[in-house]
Amino acid sequence: MYFIANWKMFGDLKTLNSLDKVIKFLKANKKNKFKLIYCPPNTLIRPLSKRLKNTNIEVGAQNSHENENSGPYTGHVNSKMLKNVGAKYVILGHSENRQEGENDKLINLKIKSAIKAGLKIIFCVGETLKEKRNRKTNQVLARQINNGLKLINNKSKIIIAYEPVWSIGTGVIPKSEDLKKSISFIKSKFRKKSPKVLYGGSVNANNIIELKNISMIDGFLIGGASQDSKKFIDIIKKTYN
Ligand code: 13P
Repeated sequence: MYFIANWKMFGDLKTLNSLDKVIKFLKANKKNKFKLIYCPPNTLIRPLSKRLKNTNIEVGAQNSHENENSGPYTGHVNSKMLKNVGAKYVILGHSENRQEGENDKLINLKIKSAIKAGLKIIFCVGETLKEKRNRKTNQVLARQINNGLKLINNKSKIIIAYEPVWSIGTGVIPKSEDLKKSISFIKSKFRKKSPKVLYGGSVNANNIIELKNISMIDGFLIGGASQDSKKFIDIIKKTYN
């Protein structure tokens, strides 16, 4: 099981102290086969990687530029630069970035560039509320997956995160039946071995009890609740109890 913390525009050097609790928890629970990944803002990738050096918690970034080389892109960083400061993963295709204009084609270029740089990709897909109401969920997921992963033959570096846009930050999660259908639809898109498929959107220590029973889910991408170490640990604990 994956537990990935997405620290969306959150955290400073002081916040990193809260990680000690998580490190301690991890040390005490070595038997459990879960994987922890923190995706902080770029400003914290280096200090966080240093802090987590002797643990098996890994670090990822939240987005990257599609260009492999340096260039005139003020404010951007590419995957190579992220890898250089300690990132092993990068979240790509997050709906918050899609809403700012990233389309499937651009996301495909970003994924290819990240693979080239040696990063693993947490590739986000998910429908909006309007698309769900119009019963377009599968159509949207198919489009995002087909276009986003176009001409990428080796999918071993890809983890998919199913994040329905309407469940992000709203406290609302999909009905179990709907979630099962979407996760199995995503997995059915892969003829060979399916990548791991995570769920993301308002995951917390209460709804994890329901979510953990959906056997096809390979883990969770957690926003708000991951900012508080106690809440994050609670989610993990409740997954296994
Ligand atoms: P929340 O857990 O805050 O709903 O965010 C989910 C998300 O977008 C993670 O990438």
